[in-house]
Amino acid sequence: MKAVVIGTGTIGAAVAETVAAHGHEVVTVGRKSGQFQADLADLASLRRLFARLGSFDAVACAAGEVFPAPFEQATDEQWADSLASKGLGQVNVVRAALPHVTDGGSFTLVSGVLTDEVTPAATIGATVNHLVEGFVKAAATELPRGVRINCVSPTVLTESVAYHPFFPGFTPVPAAEVARAYLRAMANPVTGRVLKLHKTDS
Ligand SMILES: NC(=O)c1ccc[n+]([C@@H]2O[C@H](COP(=O)([O-])OP(=O)(O)OC[C@H]3O[C@@H](n4cnc5c(N)ncnc54)[C@H](OP(=O)(O)O)[C@@H]3O)[C@@H](O)[C@H]2O)c1
Repeated sequence: MKAVVIGTGTIGAAVAETVAAHGHEVVTVGRKSGQFQADLADLASLRRLFARLGSFDAVACAAGEVFPAPFEQATDEQWADSLASKGLGQVNVVRAALPHVTDGGSFTLVSGVLTDEVTPAATIGATVNHLVEGFVKAAATELPRGVRINCVSPTVLTESVAYHPFFPGFTPVPAAEVARAYLRAMANPVTGRVLKLHKTDS
C-alpha cells in the first residue's frame, strides 16, 4: 500500500511510523513540513499535490486547525478559519484526491472527542468535528470504485500536554494507539465508520 499521510505532528508522525512499520510506503505532507506541502484551506494546493503524487492507495489526514473560543467571544475569523481548515479542508482532501486514489483505496480523516463530550468553549470544535463525521458517513455511501472512507476520533493525546488543562477529567490516549486506529481503518474492509479513541457515558 502507498499511503499519503497529511500532517507531520503528534498524530501524523505516529501514523506515518506505524504504517511504515507494517511494510507500507508512506508519503508525508505538511503545510510547511513533510516531503510535500499543501494547505488544507487551499483547494488549488490540494489539487496540485495529488496530481504530483500520481496514484496511491490511501490518504490519512491528521491535520487541520480549530481556533476555539467562548461562544460569545468567538470571532468571524475563528469560525471561518476553523471550518475552512479542519472542516471543509478535509472534505476537499477527499474531493481533490479521489481521481487519483486506486480502486478499493481509502480515506481516513480526523474528528475528536468533542463530538460526544463537552468542555468549556467547545462549540467551534464540536461543530467542526460533527461536520467531518457527517461527511464521512454520507460520503461512504457515494464514493465510487469501492473507495472507502472512515474517521478517527481521539480524545486528548497523552503527548499533547498543553491541551490537558482544557480536558479536565479526561483520560488521554497515546499517539501510538491513535495511529493503530488509522491503520485499522486503512488496512481492513471498513467504511463509514467513526473509530473512537475515547469512552463516553452514552
Ligand atoms: N492532539 C490532540 O490531543 C488531538 C485530539 C483530538 C483530535 N486532534 C486532531 O488531530 C489533528 C492533528 O492534531 P495534532 O495534535 O497531531 O496536531 P499538531 O501536532 O499540531 O500537527 C499538526 C500538523 O498538521 C499540519 N497542518 C495544520 N494545519 C494545516 C493546514 N491548513 N494544511 C496542511 N497541513 C496542516 C501541520 O503542518 P505544518 O507543521 O507543516 O504547519 C502539522 O504537521 C487536528 O485536526 C486535531 O484537531 C488532536
